[in-house]
Amino acid sequence: MKEIINLFRQKGYLLAPELLQMKSSQLQELYSHVHANHFKIKILNMSIYNDFTNKKMETINNDFPNTHVEILKSFEDEDSKKKVNTFVEFYNDRFEKISSFLKNRPELSNVNSAKNISEENNTSKISMIGMVSNISLTKNNNMIITLEDPTGNVKIMITEKNSDLYKKSQDIVLDEVIGITGSKARGFIFANEIFFPDMPTNFEFKKSSDEVYAAFISDIHIGSTAFMEESFTKFIDWVKGSAGSPEQRETSKKLGYLFIIGDVVDGIGIYPSQENDLVIKDIYEQFNVFTKFIKQIPEHVQIIICPGNHDGTRIAEPQPPYPKIFLKELYEMKNVTMVSNPAYLKIHEVEGSLGFIVLMYHGYSLDHYCLDVQSLRNAGGYGAVEKVVEFLLKKRHLAPTHGSSLFVPSSEDKMIIEIVPDIVATGHIHNLRTSVLNHINVITCSCFERTTGETYAERLGHKPTPAIVPIINLKTRKVSVMDFN
Ligand SMILES: [Fe+2]
Ligand SMILES: [Fe+2]
Repeated sequence: MKEIINLFRQKGYLLAPELLQMKSSQLQELYSHVHANHFKIKILNMSIYNDFTNKKMETINNDFPNTHVEILKSFEDEDSKKKVNTFVEFYNDRFEKISSFLKNRPELSNVNSAKNISEENNTSKISMIGMVSNISLTKNNNMIITLEDPTGNVKIMITEKNSDLYKKSQDIVLDEVIGITGSKARGFIFANEIFFPDMPTNFEFKKSSDEVYAAFISDIHIGSTAFMEESFTKFIDWVKGSAGSPEQRETSKKLGYLFIIGDVVDGIGIYPSQENDLVIKDIYEQFNVFTKFIKQIPEHVQIIICPGNHDGTRIAEPQPPYPKIFLKELYEMKNVTMVSNPAYLKIHEVEGSLGFIVLMYHGYSLDHYCLDVQSLRNAGGYGAVEKVVEFLLKKRHLAPTHGSSLFVPSSEDKMIIEIVPDIVATGHIHNLRTSVLNHINVITCSCFERTTGETYAERLGHKPTPAIVPIINLKTRKVSVMDFN
């Protein structure tokens, strides 16, 4: 038995524990078969064994990519009592964690405390890390930022004359943690530099050794009168390999991962008079239709699903994974991974590939920053939502300003972007945009909801680009798009 297991190991195959219950002769047979056929799936389990014994092995297409999905962070519902102190712990956690990112900079490695700064008189060199508790303008248009740390708070002045810094200061938002350097004179602290925690620049732009694709969709809104059933059917047909040009079908064969980033159904009672916009008025039925679509996807595609704000679950973030009662059959599929919103996954850590960290976030907070931050509005607002995602990545937080998303306080601030991702994918804004920030692919997903000028999303100000699906080739990290209109 040991010898056979070693044979598998030497060829890079791993056996699921249930296979170790088999007879050694059965495993020997399995080994001969996978070895002779250069079988590409490296983790062998009972269902593969069953396929083999049913003489179905030949039909498992060895051209399909080898896949791997690992959940790095998915947040379950916490059942703890919230006290006033929970908020204090929550913000302390944010202060501590984001401070640690900022302290990697030489300018901020040794910062002064707010108390210290307040007690000193004229000092030529000050550095401080603090949470932004207030932003105001003087009558001369100079900006005053109140920075708070556990010892107290200080007011920082950024003069309009210092035009570069003044421009940068326009991107400061309430409740985020930033660093500053400056000097103190006549009771004022004048900033000469502002630091956002930012994403590291020395990360590798990882590429896989094999050609494998990941597709990203969100906001299907099944149940809505505007749901684009025909386009979505065409998309599923393409994933199945039964639609598209020969090249497009070739790509679908190499599709290893499908991320579905929330708002899979339109929900019930999400906004006033929603019933007028629904063809399916029963949420269970909406989820049943979604299930029917997803069940058609072949097993070689790993499907990762997180909820959005339309999905009949708690909308405070992090949103726990979908309740089983809605998607029972999908929970039973072995190529489906259900996660919270937001969630962090590692995919494709297979032979010759380091694996890619994917941050998926439905994107409830994106509305706030599209509308509230001048520089983002000027950059295109809802039409350039990838800029908003980049903006949040630089802040290392998915919703820094209190109220930009609903949240459940706990002793840990789970919206901090603690893990540096390779790919960030969001939904909610219904607008497909892609960009690259340092080594990170930023993708904001489209939707499968027709633009009528009157959908709820459009009334919110979103500018949908429906039924367009971005696909990343993990070998090149190039993003291409497929139009299912
Ligand atoms: Fe949506
Ligand atoms: Fe949404």
